Amino acid sequence: MSDSPRPTRPTKLLSRETADGEGYPAVDGTELYAGDIAKVQVTQAQIRAKITELAEKVAADYPDVRSDLLLVGVLKGAVMFMTDLARALTIPVQLEFMAVSSYGSATSSSGVVRILKDLDRDIEGRHVLIVEDIIDSGLTLSWLLKNLATRNPASLEVCTLLRKADAVKVDVPVRYVGFDIPNEFVVGYGLDYAERYRDLPYIGTLHPKVYTG
Ligand code: PRP
Repeated sequence: MSDSPRPTRPTKLLSRETADGEGYPAVDGTELYAGDIAKVQVTQAQIRAKITELAEKVAADYPDVRSDLLLVGVLKGAVMFMTDLARALTIPVQLEFMAVSSYGSATSSSGVVRILKDLDRDIEGRHVLIVEDIIDSGLTLSWLLKNLATRNPASLEVCTLLRKADAVKVDVPVRYVGFDIPNEFVVGYGLDYAERYRDLPYIGTLHPKVYTG
């Protein structure tokens, strides 16, 4: 066996701003992804407080759902938000996932959507809540609402953690919005750039040097 030291992973540091207090290591993004995060846009504590607030609203709006509320998450970005929201809700929910691919560049979608993974179950007669991490142009959601509406759910609503300023212009009904944010490139808490940064427990603005090279 070699005596050379094992490679070390980036250190997950405790920081006052992101400190979790519930057993997860809080992460200093500047350390984990050295220099890539220009600033923290939404802290871990703000995300948690908002999810509690959203869960209370959702639970109050669906007091008499006979079959469990069906959360439909859009992979992959919505995974963190969806699982935390499900755990915060005080009503029974079931989880379904869809994966879609929108044709477009790495940083913007075109509105032409292809289903990569469809729902596993029929949603006819079910109360459905689409769970999204972010509404950017609104094109993905617009397409998804039309697609799911054709399957005759009892109700169809949307809950998004983030909504960008541009998306406000798009005519898509969104019942629950966590945070309205500026048109900046954000990553973390499920959101990626080239599949990286999804593991950050907060939302951060990506330093332009990452995508300008
Ligand atoms: C992101 C996000 C939304 C969509 C929003 O997904 O999760 O589904 O883009 O963009 P829009 O409002 O401009 O249509 P993405 O296609 O990046 O896939 P991912 O969730 O796997 O990262």
